[in-house]
Amino acid sequence: MDRIMVEKSPPLKGNVRISGAKNAALPILAASLLGTEDIILEDVPKLKDVEIMCEVLTSLGSKVDYLDEGVIRINSAGISNYETSYELMSKMRASFLVMGPLLTRMGKTKNSMPGGCAIGTRPIDLHLKGFRALGATIDIDHGNIGAYTEKLVGDKIYLDFPSVGATENIMMAATMAEGETIIDNAAMEPEIVDLSNFLNKLGADIKGAGTSTIRIKGVKKLGGARHSIIPDRIEAGTFMVAAAITGGDVVIENVINSHVKPIIAKLKEAGCTVEEGIDSIRVIGNSELKAIDIKTLPYPGFPTDMQAQFMALMTILKGTSMVIETVFENRFMHVDELKKMGADIKIDDRSAIIKGIKQLKGAVVKASDLRAGAALVLGGLVADGITEIENVYHIDRGYDGIEAKFTGLGAVIYRKND
Ligand code: EPU
Repeated sequence: MDRIMVEKSPPLKGNVRISGAKNAALPILAASLLGTEDIILEDVPKLKDVEIMCEVLTSLGSKVDYLDEGVIRINSAGISNYETSYELMSKMRASFLVMGPLLTRMGKTKNSMPGGCAIGTRPIDLHLKGFRALGATIDIDHGNIGAYTEKLVGDKIYLDFPSVGATENIMMAATMAEGETIIDNAAMEPEIVDLSNFLNKLGADIKGAGTSTIRIKGVKKLGGARHSIIPDRIEAGTFMVAAAITGGDVVIENVINSHVKPIIAKLKEAGCTVEEGIDSIRVIGNSELKAIDIKTLPYPGFPTDMQAQFMALMTILKGTSMVIETVFENRFMHVDELKKMGADIKIDDRSAIIKGIKQLKGAVVKASDLRAGAALVLGGLVADGITEIENVYHIDRGYDGIEAKFTGLGAVIYRKND
């Protein structure tokens, strides 16, 4: 099992290029099942989750070729299978995103039920509500979910919560449904906009992505396209916090500034200097940063995927900070690990109170999920001694070349294989 070792590092300095967004690449790869001609995707991050999604596509009959660094060609003209295996589904929840595309392309799909995970129970009721509204029959049996239909017909769907995955799955299913589908209270994340742009390049007719109402007019067939994945706003945010926590001076390149507005605002509130370029952001930290409060919300609110990393920062800010997590019911798994490093944190239901301390201490800690792992790396950069992070496969799911990127900024971080 790999471990990531992080030593107390000097203030980070230099430039770091952000990779394509995991959470845009995964639904776009799933959406590639809809096209019947060649699809070329660029700026695809090199991640375990991307590898798994490509395996899912291959298992369904798509041809997937890695052409170059970050470039993948997919051809789904000949897909024949409509079932994903339990093995692949259990490796990654996002595999469930193939349901919408398969339902509209094949008229049927069968997958095993994605389980809960460390950050919460993560139900899929909203995805299924959408499929039913479009005319699918849902059949849940022995842990498998089947969806079947003679034909899909557009309808008005109101989401009780603006779920990212449900918005994506329903949007994909609706691309070839008869008539118009309207999704109300849709998620507005940039990854939804990227998916919509990609689907429109394939020939879909989608309007309104990025607002809370998305209108999809069904078309008969989707073709091929070339598309570049948007930069990963969460990876960008993680390096922005790294600059802040180490009192460094880092230029984050390949970032869409409007996607990281809440992160910029909160770093400025803590006392960092943030300079915005056209597609770059410079973050300069200092030793006098003060406590801040955050409340996670769907986009354009503060992203839940940055909550753990900000909590790592809060452990050493002057004063008492507060975090309210409203998106997932159990996303505080990093708290016990940060406490092993000496952090002073108390949890009450969905709130955490963090009293800033002078110095974290290195410890042996476990990454419970991807962003929790990133928080431990950030804590390790400023902790006395060595921080040894176990279960790093979580980190590899979502950070492309994390050690190389941090090392390039002067951090002391390396991998150890037992
Ligand atoms: N929810 C329901 N019913 C549903 C779907 C969701 O109640 O049918 C609830 C969830 O339980 C959760 C909330 O809605 O409490 C938000 O879930 P959402 O569906 O928006 O999340 P997701 O699509 O499963 C994506 C990202 C997550 C990110 C969330 C929120 C991907 C592949 N994953 O998950 O990313 O945290 O949106 O922004 O896009 C990560 O990258 O570390 C990560 C966990």
